[in-house]
Amino acid sequence: MGRHFLQIPGPTNVPDRVLGAIARPTIDHRGPEFARMASELLERLKDVFKTRHHVIVYPSSGTGAWEAALVNTLSPGDKVLAFETGHFSSLWCEMAARLGLVVDLVPGDWRHGADPDALAERLTSDVAAVMVVHNETSTGVRSRVPEIRAALDRAGHPALLLVDTISSLGSMDYRHDEWGVDVTVGCSQKGLMLPPGMGFNAISQKALAHRGRLPRSYWDWEPIIAANRNGFFPYTPPTNLLYGLGEALTMLLDEEGLPAVFARHDRHAEATRRAVRAWGLEVLCADEREHSSSLTAVLMPGGHDADALRRLVLDRYDLSLGTGLGRLAGRVFRIGHLGWFNDLMLAGTLSGVEMGLAAAGVPTKDSGVRAALAYLEGAG
Ligand SMILES: Cc1ncc(COP(=O)(O)O)c(C=O)c1O
Repeated sequence: MGRHFLQIPGPTNVPDRVLGAIARPTIDHRGPEFARMASELLERLKDVFKTRHHVIVYPSSGTGAWEAALVNTLSPGDKVLAFETGHFSSLWCEMAARLGLVVDLVPGDWRHGADPDALAERLTSDVAAVMVVHNETSTGVRSRVPEIRAALDRAGHPALLLVDTISSLGSMDYRHDEWGVDVTVGCSQKGLMLPPGMGFNAISQKALAHRGRLPRSYWDWEPIIAANRNGFFPYTPPTNLLYGLGEALTMLLDEEGLPAVFARHDRHAEATRRAVRAWGLEVLCADEREHSSSLTAVLMPGGHDADALRRLVLDRYDLSLGTGLGRLAGRVFRIGHLGWFNDLMLAGTLSGVEMGLAAAGVPTKDSGVRAALAYLEGAG
């Protein structure tokens, strides 16, 4: 009984009014009503990415939008420079290698973001693109994209900058144009509070001019941009998800406003970290400047299995927490605090974790819930 607590770092809780919008009858995607809706949405979507340029919408998960970013801009044998920040950066690199790109991977410990100094050292003249995951969902670490941009600029290097914002878009400050990003990859099921099913590419003028020779058909930007000019798509678009997007953008852009959305996420993230510290546990992110605001990855003390805790809180409290991915399996659990979320949802989530830690016999120092609530009270 009662509502399930979906506190994984995406897919996130979908607001009832977004679900209501999605439930509207599907219309002709080649008719005038659709064209009006899509034209307006494509414009409003630019505000989420903070860009004046085109945003492509794919009926795909984020992985499809990753592929689109690579196949539209790069050619077989091109060198890409990437950072091993966690599970998702590794998967994106594997994809790049499978597509015939040469990946130069800066190794990492999965506790830090992309290192601008390492970029400067590794940046050879043949690098065609730099790939960065803004918010590593597997680790809760944010990469400092403006510093990566600055390092590229200092070197006067023309490489394209490709950034994954899959778990930061609509929940953490992000500025496609101002930060000089060439392709931003996003998707629907996290900060945008929608179900899975839409992937996005925001593209700079430079990226659009820099057409690579990798084979592409479905992902090709050109026919999509051409059809979008009249409010259409070259394939059947996800009409009902677009209804939901309209409602979500009203909530995020018009009602709450992005600055308040980001402040809400920062505040919940800080409250969560305080809870973790009060329990005497360790936040995985090792650099104060790089904390994610959309999720917190928590290291389990030695001898305790994070997945056992996750099973326990699911069975007892109907609370879903994120699992440890890749090399972090069993060692980490992740608390998602992004999307449609408020103080009491955070209090409920942290209470579930606290009760779960006690039931699993994990020793804790103090009440994390009390520490988080004290912070929330003080931080308005
Ligand atoms: C940072 C990041 N990149 C890429 C992906 C892959 O996206 P999807 O699972 O929607 O294909 C995810 C999924 O969670 C992610 O968190």
